[in-house]
Amino acid sequence: QAEALDSKQIRIKLVLLGDSGVGKSCILLRFVRGQFDPSSKVTVGASFLSQTISLQDSTNVKFEIWDTAGQERYASLAPLYYRGAAAAVVVYDITNPETFLKAQFWVKELQKHGNPDIVMALVGNKADLENEREVSHAEAQAYAKSNGMFFIETSAKTSENVNQLFEIAKRLPR
Ligand code: GTP
Ligand code: MG
Repeated sequence: QAEALDSKQIRIKLVLLGDSGVGKSCILLRFVRGQFDPSSKVTVGASFLSQTISLQDSTNVKFEIWDTAGQERYASLAPLYYRGAAAAVVVYDITNPETFLKAQFWVKELQKHGNPDIVMALVGNKADLENEREVSHAEAQAYAKSNGMFFIETSAKTSENVNQLFEIAKRLPR
């Protein structure tokens, strides 16, 4: 197929950061396998997965994804994974304001110590739990905007906006 031969290939190193329990591993499982695990186990250290998607312009994007562990005891490992990353996805849980504060901590850390060209996305996960919402869409969107970040609310459970999140690839320099 001519289209396949002509298509451009790019690789994107992406890191997932955020408090324990916000759903980073579930978002990744949804994106890579189309599945949801309600009894997902906490990540120990970090885990690595890759996934290739095709953009509308037929560019193939291979994501090389580090899923970091959100538990405090692993916080000092994070730089190993975000250094050299082209994209960082900072996740919080819309039902838990503490996780939104933790997300802001990671944004500051990335601004201080990450690759200066890093593309950052702020993700409010568990959007299916609308009736338990404690972080407003407007507040998070304003925070993301003031920090030059892409913003989206997702649900790993229902799959809402999970593929759209990875369209962050379109915002990266080719
Ligand atoms: P660490 O590995 O400790 O950093 O946590 P994590 O961010 O990887 O969390 P994980 O993906 O393991 O999900 C934690 C819990 O949240 C699990 O019980 C999931 O089933 C649940 N969960 C994840 N995503 C969603 C979602 O979109 N909606 C709902 N309702 N629950 C979710
Ligand atoms: Mg995890």
